Amino acid sequence: MKLQNLVLKNFRNYSHLDLDFSDTLNIIYGDNGSGKSNLIEGIYILALTKSFRTNNDLNLIKNNEAKCSIIGNIITNEKTTYQIDLDNAGKTVYIDSDKVTKISDFVTKINIVLFNPLDTRIISDSPAFRRRMLNIEISQINREYLNLLSDYNKLLKNRNAYLKQLLINGNSSTEYLDILTRKLVENGLKIHLIRKEYIDKINSYISDIYRNIFEYGELKINYKSIYTNKSMDKMLEMYQKNYRKEMNYSKTLFGIHHDDIEILLDGHNIKEYGSVGQQKNSIISFKLAEVLIIKSVKNEYPILILDDLFSELDNTKINNIIKMLNREVQTFITTTSIDKVSKDLLVDATLYQVKDGVIERNDTNGK
Ligand SMILES: Nc1ncnc2c1ncn2[C@@H]1O[C@H](COP(=O)(O)OP(=O)(O)O)[C@@H](O)[C@H]1O
Ligand SMILES: [Mg+2]
Repeated sequence: MKLQNLVLKNFRNYSHLDLDFSDTLNIIYGDNGSGKSNLIEGIYILALTKSFRTNNDLNLIKNNEAKCSIIGNIITNEKTTYQIDLDNAGKTVYIDSDKVTKISDFVTKINIVLFNPLDTRIISDSPAFRRRMLNIEISQINREYLNLLSDYNKLLKNRNAYLKQLLINGNSSTEYLDILTRKLVENGLKIHLIRKEYIDKINSYISDIYRNIFEYGELKINYKSIYTNKSMDKMLEMYQKNYRKEMNYSKTLFGIHHDDIEILLDGHNIKEYGSVGQQKNSIISFKLAEVLIIKSVKNEYPILILDDLFSELDNTKINNIIKMLNREVQTFITTTSIDKVSKDLLVDATLYQVKDGVIERNDTNGK
């Protein structure tokens, strides 16, 4: 999957941008605040209709303008034009000039993997943040997963409400609670197995990727879940033992809604053990593993975006990453400076210089 061309009209600090991209490596460089992440954000929104750094779409419209547009041609077996228009009244999306009413039809079409410096929050933030990330990533490759999750959340709500009712009414029969619990566990077990399979797949790639960048160290994702190695019956038994406690809290205390992952470097949690650079590389490795998973499931590489890749990394690691990137994957890298990259790694890259919302393509390829 390749983004052939992108047009931005009154988007962020771009009045009018019309740019062709290379099928392989695109490196976008320019000073801080020049518009590198804005460009990346435009590509991301073209794929997912939402930004990764604002919830308020109106921020995306260039100051003092009433509307903005993002238009891009995506090449797979065929060429498709995607367009997103945004104004006060909301968002309108088009595929080949036809208005799309179901956003879910739109967002599953363009596959994109983004690394952004904010992603190191995967390490520092709460378990809820990590679960959200997992959910987004798994739902890109598994259509059934989102339905299972939404069913689970409904069951959870009902079960919590019923626990509260039992506490208030002092009802001694747990017949209906048994039914709700069984449904919750059936559903939870399915979600658990999908998450486990996904993390197993990540683990089959991530350590090699990490070592290619960092040259040493064993990286592994550890999936923490109450369901681990437990059968349906075992789970039911555990719930039943804790009914009283759950009633007192009026809350379902166990389940996949408490799942978490941790990133282990040489067996230690990287949150407490790893340097800033190691943490960043672990997340980059995670994202690169995701690229391979998408390829294995969809039989097509996604578009890879590495925003602000070089900050906090030394030259060796930067060059290792660029060396390792598969040139079959269309890749976008943004950076403040290309001086850290050795010239021979830039021969197949196309360079773009950003200055205040204007981009110049430099076809001399760093030569
Ligand atoms: N809606 C907007 N209209 C005009 N300029 C904007 C808008 N939103 C952000 N900007 C400007 O975009 C710049 C930030 O661009 P960004 O792409 O994040 O920079 P970087 O190149 O460092 O990644 C800032 O100068 C900011 O003022
Ligand atoms: Mg930026």
